[in-house]
Amino acid sequence: RRIAVIGGGQNAEHDVSLATAAEVAAALRSSGFDVDELTIGRDGTWRRAADALGSNPIGSLTAALDVIGRADAVFPAVHGPSGEDGTLAALCSLAHTPMAGSGLRAGALGMDKWATKLVAEAVGIDTAPGRLATAAEIAGIGFTADVVVKPASAGSSFGVALARDPSRLRAALRDAARFDDRILIEDVVEGREIDVAVLREADGRRWAAPPLEIHAGGLFDTRSKYDGSARFTVPADLGGADRAALTGAALRMFDALGCAGVARIDFFLTGRGPVLNEVNTMPGMTAESQVPRMFAAAGLPYEQLVARLVDAATV
Ligand code: DAL
Ligand code: MG
Repeated sequence: RRIAVIGGGQNAEHDVSLATAAEVAAALRSSGFDVDELTIGRDGTWRRAADALGSNPIGSLTAALDVIGRADAVFPAVHGPSGEDGTLAALCSLAHTPMAGSGLRAGALGMDKWATKLVAEAVGIDTAPGRLATAAEIAGIGFTADVVVKPASAGSSFGVALARDPSRLRAALRDAARFDDRILIEDVVEGREIDVAVLREADGRRWAAPPLEIHAGGLFDTRSKYDGSARFTVPADLGGADRAALTGAALRMFDALGCAGVARIDFFLTGRGPVLNEVNTMPGMTAESQVPRMFAAAGLPYEQLVARLVDAATV
């Protein structure tokens, strides 16, 4: 079967998406699939991995659609806005090509941390108390307590900062506003950082892999995500009640957003139970990323995980 793997993208996570796409493509080839690699440049130009599709943006999207239309399935390995947010799901759906992963609705809701928070609270999952501000409102926000400032839509912690004083708050708000004109200001949550991965199989059955704990030695920010300094424990050392609460909340979130394929649902485990941090509908998928590590701990090796995602692709 012929699979189109899409990487890159027009956002801060471009390089992360290239890394995910390259490893996904290699895994699919080693499982015997024919793979077409498409890359979205930082400027929005679509290219094939080997040969440029052309520099005319309209011509290149047409040519990319041709590749997508001829594929048996698409693996959209693009993290962040204009990729993970449902944009590519919509493109595949209009091209009538099955796609691995979440559709438009779950992608859009999961990309938006404010929308995710509203859904979580509605299904009884705690989140950090917080508020939404528009970029136009940030000048009027004063410092009252330590907060975490985040762009509502971004990934890999780009634009996320902890603000412990008024000048840091000003800088954090301005920085977040570079990524989105909607900004989330949340109370700091003290707890262990635990990720849960959920996979929906071709038959519709979904299950959670053993949770993973992140030891970042501070904020698990963009730097510690990719400089190799963070350590993971998988399976995380958890009591039965905590494990059940985390896994139950992850499955509830997966269902509430209507996710497909794989999602990574990130929590803080506090003395009062799990507090949802965020949902990733196209999480990092290099073999060393958290999701493949969790499924490996469940006995599902990387190549098989990627092949199962393609088997479960839907239009
Ligand atoms: N947004 C990054 C890729 C992740 O969730 O792993
Ligand atoms: Mg994320």
